[in-house]
Amino acid sequence: MIHNAAAVSLLLISVLSFVAHGRPISDDFIRLPSDRSFIDRAFPHSYGDDDIGGTRWAVLIAGSSGYWNYRHQADVCHAYQILKKGGLKDENIIVFMYDDIAYNEENPRPGIVINHPLGDDVYKGVPKDYTGENVTVKNFLAAITGNKTAITGGSGKVVDSGPDDHIFIYYTDHGGPGVLGMPTYPYIYADDLVEALKQKHASGTYKSLVFYLEACESGSIFEGLLPEGLNIYATTASNAEESSWGTYCPGEEPSPPPEYETCLGDLYSVAWMEDSEDHNLRTETLQQQYELVKRRTANENSGYGSHVMQFGDIGLSKDDSLFLYMGTNPANDNYSVIAENSLRQISSRAVNQRDADLLHFWDKFRKAPEGSSRKHEAQKQFFEAMSHRMHIDNSMKLIGKLLFGIEKAPEVLQTVRPAGHPLVDDWDCLRMMVRTFEAHCGSLSQYGMKHMRSVANICNAGITEQQMAEASAQACDRVPSNPWSSLNKGFSA
Ligand SMILES: *[C@@H]1O[C@H](CO)[C@@H](O)[C@H](O)[C@H]1NC(C)=O
Ligand SMILES: *[C@@H]1O[C@H](CO)[C@@H](O)[C@H](O)[C@H]1NC(C)=O
Ligand SMILES: *[C@@H]1O[C@H](CO)[C@@H](O)[C@H](O)[C@H]1NC(C)=O
Repeated sequence: MIHNAAAVSLLLISVLSFVAHGRPISDDFIRLPSDRSFIDRAFPHSYGDDDIGGTRWAVLIAGSSGYWNYRHQADVCHAYQILKKGGLKDENIIVFMYDDIAYNEENPRPGIVINHPLGDDVYKGVPKDYTGENVTVKNFLAAITGNKTAITGGSGKVVDSGPDDHIFIYYTDHGGPGVLGMPTYPYIYADDLVEALKQKHASGTYKSLVFYLEACESGSIFEGLLPEGLNIYATTASNAEESSWGTYCPGEEPSPPPEYETCLGDLYSVAWMEDSEDHNLRTETLQQQYELVKRRTANENSGYGSHVMQFGDIGLSKDDSLFLYMGTNPANDNYSVIAENSLRQISSRAVNQRDADLLHFWDKFRKAPEGSSRKHEAQKQFFEAMSHRMHIDNSMKLIGKLLFGIEKAPEVLQTVRPAGHPLVDDWDCLRMMVRTFEAHCGSLSQYGMKHMRSVANICNAGITEQQMAEASAQACDRVPSNPWSSLNKGFSA
């Protein structure tokens, strides 16, 4: 491997090509005074007072760790502040975050986390229900279903809801087809998540549930899996085949303060949050927010953005106001949402979530003094991330060729099932194939999740565990020594 700055610069050309040219910033949303009678006519399902006949619950989760993933925990902290100002009580908000950002040695403002270039601290007051090693898929699913005995560690808080209650779940992190990342292994598999939601429904402990999901290929989590009739409405940052996008990244407009070498937020996430915190949420329906978030996240004309999707009981979105789930900040009582007017075009640039770590290492490298140990460290981190990517991409390609032949392999691995069909029929096969791959080739880790569709297609093609093990052993003679490939934390499946 070549270790010099010129090589880093060359590699970076590909990274920087992900950053689009921005459009001028226009802060052109219009605030209109609320007129109670107008609101009641326009929004017959909005509620006249704070009595919604039940309790609002929320589960907020950031699935990552590491300073290069600053934005996910910033998103979750920000979401907490909105719900808190909306009137939800701490006892009803359950927060999962690794909590390694605020006091990270890379954080230029110790103890403070921001989610917008000019934003205030969003870290203060956030409940630390499940942090560090307690951020597990088991605890997350148990918190949703309300099963206290299944919880290990943490505050023990779960969604202890009743039949009249409303539940809001928000997840943000990396993902891949059928899978959502976690700061601990294993990751969240779509079938387990949807099963937990079905269980919650079967227990009769909510009136309606809204799920906002930001991750790459997040549409694949509900596609063909989340049925109608559970009173669950979900939106995802992207469809089943595309990445989602980080925003407020170094080099964007507006850019984070210069001392931040990391993205501050994610595009879909800041779109719903900045919309929610500017309006009287009694007067805004889920559907109106979806339309606004969809347009901002699509980032039309720039070529950088993703397709926000709706799943489940979409009818809920037209009937229900955001107020049922998020409450509303009394300071916004006079700021009603009036369709197009409230679309804020803040940033038209974005960075593919999958490249945000490289952007961090590059920005760190670029700014570190010549010859410093910091520069050396950033260079090493950059090369490790790049070589992990190449290793995973090449191993997967080679395994495909060994299993399906040189000509047929790309077609089999890249097959996308028609809309409405789940990624894979046998999810246990998918988990088994991931473990087999990782045993021979090392951890897929954050970047490798992009290959989950190939692994799913290996199952769909009827390959056996034995065949997969032989192909993986041939493709990878050993697990690479870099930290991304490490199996220390176990398998991701
Ligand atoms: C709760 O979790 C425990 C431990 O995992 C399990 O044995 C039990 O069946 C669960 N209860 C329900 C109602 O699902
Ligand atoms: C996990 O939870 C336990 C029990 O609440 C707590 O003692 C421990 O400090 C937590 N670990 C982390 C890393 O937060
Ligand atoms: C909303 O407008 C009314 C009438 O102008 C005013 O009395 C009230 O204080 C305003 N509320 C807020 C929260 O700004």
